[in-house]
Amino acid sequence: MQTSLPAYSSYMKHWGLDPAMVFLNHGSFGATPIKILELQHQVRQRMESEPVRFMVREFEPLWWEAKNKLGDFVGAKGENLVFVKNATMGVNNILHALAFEEGDEVLTTNHVYGACLNTLHQYAKLKKFKVVIADVPFPIKSKADVMEALISKVSTRTKLLLIDHITSATGLIFPVEEIVKEFEGKGIEVLVDGAHAPGFLPLSLEQLGASYYVGNCHKWICAPKGAALLYVRPDKQSKISPLQFSHVYDKPIPKEAEWSAQFFWLGTDDYSAYLCVPAAIDYMKNLMGDWDILQQHNRDVCLKARKYLASSLESSLPAPEEMIGALSNILIGPATNTNSAHFNNIHPIQQKLFENYKIEVPVFQFNQANPRDWVRIAVQAYNTYEQYVYLGNALKEIGAGL
Ligand SMILES: Cc1ncc(COP(=O)(O)O)c(C=O)c1O
Repeated sequence: MQTSLPAYSSYMKHWGLDPAMVFLNHGSFGATPIKILELQHQVRQRMESEPVRFMVREFEPLWWEAKNKLGDFVGAKGENLVFVKNATMGVNNILHALAFEEGDEVLTTNHVYGACLNTLHQYAKLKKFKVVIADVPFPIKSKADVMEALISKVSTRTKLLLIDHITSATGLIFPVEEIVKEFEGKGIEVLVDGAHAPGFLPLSLEQLGASYYVGNCHKWICAPKGAALLYVRPDKQSKISPLQFSHVYDKPIPKEAEWSAQFFWLGTDDYSAYLCVPAAIDYMKNLMGDWDILQQHNRDVCLKARKYLASSLESSLPAPEEMIGALSNILIGPATNTNSAHFNNIHPIQQKLFENYKIEVPVFQFNQANPRDWVRIAVQAYNTYEQYVYLGNALKEIGAGL
């Protein structure tokens, strides 16, 4: 095994990532460029230089401005989206606000993010609905398999579909356009969990037409942590109030801004991450010249890396290219981890990669019916193809592979 670590790209200078690690996990929490963190520091200094002036006099117009800019970026009117702290909070907010009748069904898939599945189960107990899981095959042959699995589980009691836009454990782009059209057309509300989507692929939320959409800003927009969006379609807004009530918004404002105004002040907090979202959108846009260039670059490296890894580990590619962006899974062998796959359970192979090779990359067990070990690569501008070759060599040395 080589003794020196493979180099990062020249874009690495924009990030403060530890050069003594091979960081292949932009997917989990993103990573924020140094300049954006400096901006956040300035926002905080401004807040702390006169907290009342900042919170009471200055913050509100900055909040509207930031969410209007985010709205432009994701194809939504600013008044139809609000900031929440993270995607988990957005999903909780919707389930908290919706009313269900006993026996109603909420449909999701076996690819759903663990925290969201747990949220569904918790609200199912409180609100007496049933959680129904559609088994989307993985490996998957085509995006049509997603729709087929979903449709097979629809019943007259299905009230809501919680569907990932980009799946976490399997790194797949689900065909949400077709899914939203089909389900909303049937009168079933769709909550899209787009935790990875903003910055990962182009978004047009008004056009998509889902009742509800959540997305993180810290992952692929690279904003500071603690900024996410919750979009609610205008005809659904009367049902959705904030997770946490606070002051009444009592200034005169245009009617169409009334819904989102309720979310303006949810108690004293550090809202600096929200205010850095516009700068992060511009910063990442300018990194390679434009967003589409960056997204294409990341996808190209990802496709090349997953091909290399699959052939060097003698495994086959688990999904067609059209379902892949900057994240991808590669099968590394039979399930070797007997513990359940939870947030705070690090897979032994992941631990070996971290300790012995300085590689930060997630290793998951998927799925319950046929558990096997998968590694999920993520590609951001700072990564290089050589880093994934190094990962492949490390996995082979560890004895992973089929
Ligand atoms: C699909 C999906 N949903 C939800 C989340 C949760 O995001 P957060 O921890 O920011 O709430 C993640 C995080 O990776 C995710 O991938």
